[in-house]
Amino acid sequence: MFAIIGGSGLAKLTNLEVSKRQVMRTPYGEPSGALTFGQINGVDVVFFARHGYGHTIAPHEINYRANLWALHALDVDGIISIASVGGIRQDMQPGTLVIPDQIIDYTFGRKHTFFEGPEQPVNHIDFTQPYSEELRAHLFAAVDGVSEACVLGATYACTQGPRLETAAEIRRLERDGADIVGMTGMPEAALARELGLKYATLAIVANWAAGKGDSRETVSKEGIQQTLEQAMHRVRKILVAFVAQ
Ligand code: HPA
Repeated sequence: MFAIIGGSGLAKLTNLEVSKRQVMRTPYGEPSGALTFGQINGVDVVFFARHGYGHTIAPHEINYRANLWALHALDVDGIISIASVGGIRQDMQPGTLVIPDQIIDYTFGRKHTFFEGPEQPVNHIDFTQPYSEELRAHLFAAVDGVSEACVLGATYACTQGPRLETAAEIRRLERDGADIVGMTGMPEAALARELGLKYATLAIVANWAAGKGDSRETVSKEGIQQTLEQAMHRVRKILVAFVAQ
């Protein structure tokens, strides 16, 4: 069974036939919401909304450890994370779908590891390739299979939020080699790796990052919402193809 973590714009999977919802408790507290179990075209999946069902949990307040621990406890085969991002690189215009292959972590103060406390021996996980190559390939095949286009390979910069970035901050991320920017990729990806869970992200560019494209003045919230709404039916189609593989 695969897990799907829905991001902004994807609080529900309309093509999921729900069989049950389950509130889970973990040693790290409660996940963002009840986990929704069901089937997409007859294939079992578990889904939850990263920001909670009413989109009430800010990126820095998400209990990433509880979310990942719950999926680990369910022994899922892998996690597809849906994430909305800002576009930095020139070909990352709003509406673009991206399967990143690298990540840079600019977050701070988040509970970012399971390896802490006196009883826990420290474990320096390998994170050279932060995403599962296997899942990325499956995801790409699903995108291709429904004749959608996506950018395969990009560096995701994860900022702390909840505010958006300044134009200078985006220029700095660009110099660092980042192509897209979001607020939830970390510590999610690293925690998945700590637990040995396969993890890949399908990112949707919701807006030009600050100072990029036509958003040289401001980033509009309405614009972001509109782009995400338009993109999510494509994402749903891709997820159907993904689980059918
Ligand atoms: N910056 C950071 N996170 C984001 C953005 C952005 O421009 N758009 C969507 N998530």
